[in-house]
Amino acid sequence: MRSTEQSTEHYFSSDPKSRFTFSLFSAILRGRDFKFSTSSSVFSKKRIDLGTRLLIEKMILPAEGLILDLGCGYGAVGIVAASTNPKLQIIMTDVNVRAVALARTNLKKNRAFNAKVRLGYLYEPVEDLIFNCILLNPPVSAGMDLVKKMILGAPEVLATGGSFQMVIRSKISGKTLPRIFNEAFGNCSILSRGSGYRILKGEIK
Ligand SMILES: C[S@@+](CC[C@H](N)C(=O)[O-])C[C@H]1O[C@@H](n2cnc3c(N)ncnc32)[C@H](O)[C@@H]1O
Repeated sequence: MRSTEQSTEHYFSSDPKSRFTFSLFSAILRGRDFKFSTSSSVFSKKRIDLGTRLLIEKMILPAEGLILDLGCGYGAVGIVAASTNPKLQIIMTDVNVRAVALARTNLKKNRAFNAKVRLGYLYEPVEDLIFNCILLNPPVSAGMDLVKKMILGAPEVLATGGSFQMVIRSKISGKTLPRIFNEAFGNCSILSRGSGYRILKGEIK
């Protein structure tokens, strides 16, 4: 597996070495109560990130099919998607082993039995699958080159009619990101805005 390891440790380190400091919090998302175990060296360990919350509240989920929560962290997006509709099957992936372990714990804690977690880099762990929807809060701190790869790689694993929904701070790459979406999907729309974030959507037509 390729690594996003850098000299200092970040939430996107593939194998964090920091002391595991465990936390637990609750959050109301799409009107329901969820509990999440988190730890050091995972993204937004104390509370649901504002961008994540916007994505969760505004994401458009198909009535049935396969959803990818790319870069799932401790699992909030995929777990809420799974709990919203038991007819959906959710695959959650992350490069960070600690995030993957927490996401597995949180699936059980929230009884999201229609979701599974896979460890790996970008789309490598799901090359065998075709999705109806991809949900992403991208690892901007890991660099925009990686974010670009996440966008450009999506059409390979999306079905016709499938969508790619990505939340990001509104001030980041204002004109460049729609250009990259257009390169990947031939279209780009704004699904929602709020709290300084926007959700960009691309569709396979
Ligand atoms: C901004 S965080 C979002 C986490 C979670 N989806 C949330 O909203 O709370 C981005 C996630 O992408 C993961 N990530 C970074 N590089 C990755 C890569 N190359 N492949 C897969 N996941 C990656 C990080 O480990 C991190 O958990």
